[in-house]
Amino acid sequence: RPDLTGRHFLKEVDFTAEEFRGLVDLAAELKAAKKAGTETQYLAGRNIALVFEKTSTRTRCAFEVAAADQGASTTYLDPSGSQIGHKESVRDTARVLGRMFDAIEYRGDSQPGVEELAAYAGVPVYNGLTDDWHPTQMLADVLTMVEHNSKPLAEIAFAYLGDARFNMGNSYLVTGALLGMDVRIVAPRAYWPAEEIIAQARKLAETSGARITLTEDIPEGVAGADFVVTDVWVSMGEPKEVWAERIAALAPYAVTMDVLRATGNADVKFLHCLPAFHDLGTKVGREIHETYGLDSLEVTDEVFESAHSVVFDEAENRLHTIKAIMVATLA
Ligand code: CP
Ligand code: NVA
Repeated sequence: RPDLTGRHFLKEVDFTAEEFRGLVDLAAELKAAKKAGTETQYLAGRNIALVFEKTSTRTRCAFEVAAADQGASTTYLDPSGSQIGHKESVRDTARVLGRMFDAIEYRGDSQPGVEELAAYAGVPVYNGLTDDWHPTQMLADVLTMVEHNSKPLAEIAFAYLGDARFNMGNSYLVTGALLGMDVRIVAPRAYWPAEEIIAQARKLAETSGARITLTEDIPEGVAGADFVVTDVWVSMGEPKEVWAERIAALAPYAVTMDVLRATGNADVKFLHCLPAFHDLGTKVGREIHETYGLDSLEVTDEVFESAHSVVFDEAENRLHTIKAIMVATLA
């Protein structure tokens, strides 16, 4: 297994395909050990700081439970409960936390911010999501794909529908490119990842053998896909004024049963990092329902609740993959 001791986990492209796969394989081993009741604690006595400048359910809980399983303790700093970003700079915070903790998780909007934290902390820093990348999510998604498809990873095809300019779209594109997969970004052209990210993915594909497709055409984009994936149309930190424009542009790209049928693959699986607007029964959902008269957004409730959907396996895998990152970098 690749040695990642002392490494940061900031974005997918910092790793080789072997290193990334090594983390997925380690996560599978840790998952099996936990389920068998034979987990070894590699992190006894370690302390992990969890800095969240944005809200979280899965990422925070995955770090806390993974650390507890491994004998480590965590300290959670919530979006308003620390000095970071208000009256203390990222680099001062990094040097303080680095003196007390063995590793630091950070979620915020700025990728340069998490990179700066890593540059000054002196201990491993893990990116728990920025506007640009969501790399811990990618480990969970790849583990879920491997669990639900027996093909070699490089033969697996997935299609991402929706807003591909943000963390999830970017991360899917480069992760698929890194791992030599068949990656399709299916979205209106204005919602494709930035040119430099597409160029980065194409460069990775030259050595990995990845097939990269960017298309506005849904039947072309999803044909033969093993997995159909999507994300929310409006991400954390974006103003609610953008909902109207997003719904107008992205409504045709909602994942429906027709989209799944268009893959031609009766066994196609559906992934979503969650939270998902599949029914609009939440507070935000009700507001959207009242304003736009919709029953769902990026995925229908029918797809979300169908046998195609493996979103809760994916959510559980956040735990095992985040544990793998901590074990690989600290043990
Ligand atoms: N998928 C994900 O990162 O979920 P949270 O925002 O709940 O952490
Ligand atoms: N794109 C979403 C992902 C949430 C896990 C967001 O940034 O809000």
